[in-house]
Amino acid sequence: MTTAIIGVGNLGSALARDLVAGDELVVLAAADQAHAKALADELGPNASAASVEDAIAGADAVVLATWLDQTKELVPAQAGGLENKVVVDPSNPLGFDENGQVLRTLPDDQSAGSIVSALLPASAHYVKAFGTLGADALATNANREPRRVALFYATDDEIAAGTIERLIRAAGFDAVKAGGTAAALRLEMPGGELHQSGLNGELLDLDQARAVLARTEVNT
Ligand SMILES: NC(=O)c1ccc[n+]([C@@H]2O[C@H](COP(=O)([O-])OP(=O)(O)OC[C@H]3O[C@@H](n4cnc5c(N)ncnc54)[C@H](OP(=O)(O)O)[C@@H]3O)[C@@H](O)[C@H]2O)c1
Repeated sequence: MTTAIIGVGNLGSALARDLVAGDELVVLAAADQAHAKALADELGPNASAASVEDAIAGADAVVLATWLDQTKELVPAQAGGLENKVVVDPSNPLGFDENGQVLRTLPDDQSAGSIVSALLPASAHYVKAFGTLGADALATNANREPRRVALFYATDDEIAAGTIERLIRAAGFDAVKAGGTAAALRLEMPGGELHQSGLNGELLDLDQARAVLARTEVNT
């Protein structure tokens, strides 16, 4: 299985490192292809770099590790290539005000996931995942001992669920399904109670994640 990671910034590079360390094949793309190539060269034979179009074409799963505004342009432009692919969306509806303070760019009841999933071709297999930890935490907590850190995901799609469970495990974490795509709102920051920032920065193991899920259960 090959995973395309579109975007090799904070999040995309952390995820690429975790997946390659877990023996997964990744193909990397960025706005500036030199950024993708530099990371691929560093990560070795399990990583390669390609244009966005070629990376998507050669992959089974595609992680959109770009900002929501970038993703909103990228997905329609690559819609043909995304047909039938598992599409992993880690985006948060985040922006910054003129003082550099983080602000939410969508209404409180609207998730980035609802926007990205609606832009995809109907045959794509959408899943919200890999955005629930800060990039630093994702980079430094793979294969935590004695208990792995759990990552929540949300999807309505069984194929996407199977693929993301495998990728989360390969990246060195335990997977916990939070619900259908509507549960994406709970996984995003600011505001999501299943995002690390909504958990006071805590990193949960599998039992703790399941307990939080049960405690905060809503019908999604
Ligand atoms: N940073 C975090 O801690 C964190 C945690 C959870 C979720 N997320 C989410 O992850 C996403 C990425 O965040 P980030 O912090 O990694 O951002 P970032 O460091 O700014 O990286 C963005 C990446 O997207 C690439 N890119 C931009 N437009 C593109 C296009 N049209 N085609 C291909 N690649 C394009 C950029 O390419 P260049 O390298 O060429 O500029 C860059 O590699 C966001 O949606 C964010 O909400 C981030």
